Amino acid sequence: MNEVIKNILERRSIRKYRSEQIPDEELNSVLEAGLYAPSAGGRQSPLIVVCQNAETNAELGNINKAAFHGRMSTGNVYVSKDQPSIADDAGIASGFYNAPTVITLFAPGNFLYSAADCCAAAQNIMLAAHSLGISSCMIARAEDTFSSEFGRRLREEWGIDKEMEAKFHVALGYADGAQPPAKPRKGDRIKRVRGKRD
Ligand SMILES: Cc1cc2nc3c(=O)[nH]c(=O)nc-3n(C[C@H](O)[C@H](O)[C@H](O)COP(=O)(O)O)c2cc1C
Repeated sequence: MNEVIKNILERRSIRKYRSEQIPDEELNSVLEAGLYAPSAGGRQSPLIVVCQNAETNAELGNINKAAFHGRMSTGNVYVSKDQPSIADDAGIASGFYNAPTVITLFAPGNFLYSAADCCAAAQNIMLAAHSLGISSCMIARAEDTFSSEFGRRLREEWGIDKEMEAKFHVALGYADGAQPPAKPRKGDRIKRVRGKRD
């Protein structure tokens, strides 16, 4: 199979990480892939902020988890049995799952396509990481995380422009254990329509 498509099909969200940090050279390649993501109007709106400070990531991860007020998993409705999310296991302390590297994607709060641009960058980052044997997980609630008192102080310390809003996080690191298989794909999600000329 084509290597790019294989990489796309094989990437999985990982929530159990080893503490070993990813090498700078590989991180740089992954970040560069993020910079080359498509962006609305070619505005390259996302700012990619990388934090490898374990204490900061632990504190932010706890805030991120506390901001989760979603429904907990029950019975057959779960996110992942092999790689439980905070919706599957209330005992998980950090919404960042102790990943050694956490990226936060910021984009202008007053731009309609900020979240979409950040999602496109996140996907490039995760696929590039996977191609290098680095695992990842996209994480929501970034606005809540960075509107906390701790988050606001960090924004100042890091010199993040006031107009920028945190949109998504991407956790990165080496998987602790095997990668789970993908859930089966739901059917009827592709409709091929006939054009007028067919
Ligand atoms: C927009 C978006 C937000 C997500 N937010 C979270 C999150 O907050 N926490 C989490 O553990 N996983 C999160 N995920 C990862 C999904 O749970 C994961 O992609 C899904 O369960 C499918 O698993 P797979 O990525 O291994 O195919 C998010 C994914 C997307 C696309």
